[in-house]
Amino acid sequence: MQLGAESNVQRQPPALQIRELLINPPLLLAPMAGLTHSALRRLMVDFGGAGLLSTEMLSAKRLPTENPRISPYLIRTEKENPLSYQLLTSNCQEIGRAVDALHAFKADAVDLNMGCPSTAVGRFGAGVMLMERPEEARRIVAEARKRTVLPLSAKIRLGSDAGDSGKLKTFCSMLEGEGIDMLTVHARFKQEPFVRNPRWAYIAEIKECIKIPVIANGGIFSVEDAEKCLEISGADGLMLGRGAVIRPWLFAEIARNIFGGDITVPVVTLPDIYTAFIDALNADYRPIYRLGRLKAFTHYFARNYKFGHSLACRIQSSRSMDEARERAWIFFENNSEEYSPTAERIGKTPDY
Ligand SMILES: Cc1cc2nc3c(=O)[nH]c(=O)nc-3n(C[C@H](O)[C@H](O)[C@H](O)COP(=O)(O)O)c2cc1C
Repeated sequence: MQLGAESNVQRQPPALQIRELLINPPLLLAPMAGLTHSALRRLMVDFGGAGLLSTEMLSAKRLPTENPRISPYLIRTEKENPLSYQLLTSNCQEIGRAVDALHAFKADAVDLNMGCPSTAVGRFGAGVMLMERPEEARRIVAEARKRTVLPLSAKIRLGSDAGDSGKLKTFCSMLEGEGIDMLTVHARFKQEPFVRNPRWAYIAEIKECIKIPVIANGGIFSVEDAEKCLEISGADGLMLGRGAVIRPWLFAEIARNIFGGDITVPVVTLPDIYTAFIDALNADYRPIYRLGRLKAFTHYFARNYKFGHSLACRIQSSRSMDEARERAWIFFENNSEEYSPTAERIGKTPDY
């Protein structure tokens, strides 16, 4: 299928210059555990349109001992550029060695995770819990800023609830004051699930109190969503998560239609995309790291099909990559008709 041939009126925010890094167009890939690794990033790069790619969250503590040639979190090909690395930490002592490791891995930017609501992460005071530990968050940012001249960003949520808006603004100003160059806001409160509509209007309020670029994240699954989010939030750029896993060509569509990117109209053949993903996993990942990643990707990608739940179930119960590939091919032969997922259905995903 050929997509997005008609270009809408372009009302684009300009490319972002963050220190030495040009983010053009201002469309960013969201960090997603188990998903935003090299094999998936390559699919997106082939379509074009992403201005900044991302790793999944990386434990600052473990990072210095990881081998970037074989670690499934760190494998990277030359075409995955520019690439931001997200650090997960609960204390400033871990930052120095982690940032040194990122320099050795040739990171293009460093992001600090201050938005992950998972209880496992929160137990250690990391992720969104840092928004409730502003003094430690301040020390983490100050230490990271001291250690690197790379673009330094933070990714947050909206805080605990609507009554927190003063606290939220103070937190954002603190981040800016300590040297954060760019802020991404996942427009949901701490415990809000994906079924809850994102609150893009809150981002407009954050923008009023800081000067650094603010990136809007949450609930963007189409060009229309992207336009609406930009309009409501006034953000300087957008970050795409699940939408770009379901449709690795979504960056290209949004870049063409909103940012006037010189990008070929995406020609999408779903079985080819799936096969390319399997091939990348088989080529570059050690066997134990392949099947889990294929299952995680299929959970989202299957939504392109009317009977996608059947594909997802078949892959979920596969015991090997070969079995999964064979089952997928049988499915593709019998389901040539794909369809566009709606936000309503996409909303019913497990909460992160
Ligand atoms: C499976 C999954 C894993 C995620 N892992 C991370 C992560 O490692 N770091 C992070 O900051 N956010 C993580 N997120 C949150 C996303 O970055 C993003 O904020 C969220 O999915 C909302 O954006 P979306 O509606 O475009 O998906 C994850 C989300 C999902 C669905």
